[in-house]
Amino acid sequence: MIVCVCHRISDRDIARHAQQGISSFDELQMESGVSTCCGKCESCARDTFEQARQHHTIALIRNASQFTQAAKKA
Ligand code: FES
Repeated sequence: MIVCVCHRISDRDIARHAQQGISSFDELQMESGVSTCCGKCESCARDTFEQARQHHTIALIRNASQFTQAAKKA
C-alpha cells in the first residue's frame, strides 16, 4: 500500500527502513523523504513506522532467544 503519494513510498518501504536500523521518524524522513511534501501522510506514516519498528524489535528478541537456547544445547 502506498503511504506517501508525493514520494511514492509504500508500507513495505517503511518496514525495510525500520529493519535496516532507522530508529526515529525524523531519520526516516531524512532517508526516504516520507511526509516532507504536503504532509497529509504523516499520521499514517508514523503509525506504519512504529508498527514496523515494534515488529522488527520482537523479531530481534526472538532470534536472540533462539540463539541463546541453541548455544546452551551445544
Ligand atoms: S503524501 Fe506524503 S508528503 Fe504528501
